[in-house]
Parts: sequence; structure tokens; C-alpha cells
Amino acid sequence: MSSHLLRTDVVMGQNIEKYLNDLAKLRIEVFKDYPYLYDGNLDYESNYLAKYCKDRKSIAVIVKDGDRIVGASTAMPLSSEHEEFKLPFKNSGIDINDVYYLAESVLLPEYRGRGLGHRFFDFRESHASALRFSITAFCAVERPTDHPSAPADYSPLDEFWKSRGYRKSPLTSEFKWKEIGESEESPKTMRFWLKSTNKDF
Ligand SMILES: CC(C)(COP(=O)(O)OP(=O)(O)OC[C@H]1O[C@@H](n2cnc3c(N)ncnc32)[C@H](O)[C@@H]1OP(=O)(O)O)[C@@H](O)C(=O)NCCC(=O)NCCS
Repeated sequence: MSSHLLRTDVVMGQNIEKYLNDLAKLRIEVFKDYPYLYDGNLDYESNYLAKYCKDRKSIAVIVKDGDRIVGASTAMPLSSEHEEFKLPFKNSGIDINDVYYLAESVLLPEYRGRGLGHRFFDFRESHASALRFSITAFCAVERPTDHPSAPADYSPLDEFWKSRGYRKSPLTSEFKWKEIGESEESPKTMRFWLKSTNKDF
């Protein structure tokens, strides 16, 4: 690991644009591993991530080691997210305008375990609170415990998320992507985790 001090930059709305390419590369690099096994491509990623620049209430937390971007985390109002993120909330009667959606957190493996995951939540949650959203939420892929691609030392992040006050909700959505080794996209179940300042989920 480099001896540079790590620096955290926080950018919002249109200012996220200059980081989109790095964010796309990080997502492909980090999500290729279990449990996402994502076989991503930069063209798709650039389109997918453009949403962050269009909403002035979006945020990106960028971690740099010198000039190199080694981690990032994003969030935005759920109302500006893609429809498949909003649908389970609408179907369960939650007002999507109350929800600030915490999107990806991606950190290169060699930088993990130093508290940056907590820092990602701290910045995004305090921004959500300043913007007066009462619910923060994110989703994670559901995999069977005996999935053949799970590394022997794999441990899920559930305990971390619970310690941050999130509860696994009954809300799910189906997202499609091409897994490493697959010839085409297949559907995956995504489970939503919620935290509310005024309700118990
Ligand atoms: C999520 C991620 C950004 C967390 O980064 P991190 O810097 O390692 O997190 P922290 O060092 O702040 O650790 C947070 C807590 O989770 C625990 N933790 C971290 N990784 C863990 C793991 N793989 N299994 C179990 N616990 C873990 C830490 O021990 C710590 O616990 P503590 O609060 O009791 O000290 C990083 O693991 C990552 O990029 N993962 C791959 C992508 C991913 O799954 N993202 C989440 C969904 S988008």
C-alpha cells in the first residue's frame, strides 16, 4: 500500500461528473468479486451513472490515495433513481419523497478495514438529514449461503449494516446483469435495508 495519506473529497450534483469515469472503473473492479460477480462494461456504466449529475441533491464521497481514486460512495433522492429501485417502495406505500437512496460503496480491497466504510455512511447520512429526508435505504444482492462462487473466507456485511441502524426490510427488487462466466444477463434479487429517523422498519 502507498504511504500517501488518504484524502476524502465530497462532491455534489453536477460536480460529480468529473469522477464518473473513475467511479465506473471502480464499480467494475470491485463488483466483479463475489457476491456481485458483475461482468460490467464502461459504456453501460457511463449511462447508468449519469443520473448522479442530474440531481443537485446527489452526493459522492471520493477517497484518494495521492492522485489515485481508490474508493467511492454515492447517494441521491430515491425519486431520481431508476424505476426498479422505486417500485418496491411505491408498492409498500412508502412515500418515495421521504427516502434518500444510498447507492454503491466501493473500495479497493487493500484499503478496507480502516473505517472508510463508516465514513461513507457518515457523510451520506448527514447529507440526507440536512436535506430533511426521514429514511435512508440501500440494497444488496441476495445469495444462497452455499453459493458455489462464495470464497471460503467470505463474510457478509450484515452485522456492519445492523450496527449502523439498518434493518433488513421485506422489500426486494429484481435487477439484471451479466455475471462473470454468463453469456447473457440474468435476474438477481436485491434486498433493501432501511433506517428511519421517525419510524421503525
Ligand atoms: C463496503 C465497504 C466499502 C466497507 O469498507 P471498509 O472500509 O472495509 O469498512 P470499515 O473499515 O469502515 O468497516 C466497517 C465495519 O464492518 C466490518 N467489516 C468490514 N468488512 C467486513 C466483512 N467483509 N465482513 C464482516 N465485517 C466486515 C468492520 O469490521 C467494521 O466493523 P466495526 O464497526 O465493528 O469496526 C467495502 O467492504 C467494499 O468495498 N466492499 C465491496 C463492495 C460492497 O459490497 N459494497 C456494499 C454494497 S454497495
